[in-house]
Amino acid sequence: MTATILDGKLVAAEAKKHVKVEVERMKASGTNPHLSTVLVGDEPASASYLKSKHKACQEAGIGSENHHLPVETTQKELENLIFKLNVDPKVNGILVQLPLPGHLDENTVIERIVPYKDVDGLHPMNAGKLASGIEGLVPCTPKGIVKLLEHYKVPLRGQRAMIVNRSTLVGRPLAMLFLNRDATVTMAHSKTLNLPEVSRSADILVSAVGRSNFQVEAKHVKPGAAVVDVGLSRVDGKLRGDVDFGEVSKVAKYLTPVPGGVGPMTVAMLLENTVMAAMIQSGKN
Ligand code: GUN
Repeated sequence: MTATILDGKLVAAEAKKHVKVEVERMKASGTNPHLSTVLVGDEPASASYLKSKHKACQEAGIGSENHHLPVETTQKELENLIFKLNVDPKVNGILVQLPLPGHLDENTVIERIVPYKDVDGLHPMNAGKLASGIEGLVPCTPKGIVKLLEHYKVPLRGQRAMIVNRSTLVGRPLAMLFLNRDATVTMAHSKTLNLPEVSRSADILVSAVGRSNFQVEAKHVKPGAAVVDVGLSRVDGKLRGDVDFGEVSKVAKYLTPVPGGVGPMTVAMLLENTVMAAMIQSGKN
């Protein structure tokens, strides 16, 4: 068996085309969607992610700007910037790129964002809504994963889904989205014992570990499963995902590549969320 590749680049391009049409419609009625991002410090990976987010905004006709703060920025200074963006009527979406430097309290920073501008879907209000089964502003990576699976008609209802990650950015919200779609969800993480034995029962296996010493191998995968690779790590200077692509593609029915899988979907979903936020704020939703 050779797995069908879940082409995130293709599905993201389609989603972005829809966003662009929607943005044109909104602009014609006087709403100009706008995203503000915040980067603290000079982490090259974060800067590179942000660059692709801004490029995508530009292509979709969404206004955007980045606020680049020095690594020594204090909690107070960062929160002051959030307050300014919260009350700026031009700004519909606020995204603080994570991770923040260690001296800053991420949770508090996220709580300072007004929930209706929280295009990352990380504010406890948005996370709580999702946990209650209400899908408003949902974190971009999980939203993109579900969109990609749905595009390829990978069934979720009644299926066993296993997520190797329990972060607020990926694992937890994805578990809620899967549950909302009637999957049977198992969460695994760094303390899970005998991972291959557990993961081999999964019809859908999502791995978001991102460590160079971890790999999803054929022995982790149930024959015919859908495998979604969210990991990114650097090995010998080269970026790679969590999954041993060559081996797993012989066992799985569906597989996402790295790059060109989940990454482009995340960016496309950020555009969707920015449009949704602008719509909420214009009262035209
Ligand atoms: N760092 C890695 N992924 C993300 C994301 O989706 N949002 C933010 N804010 N930071 C990230």
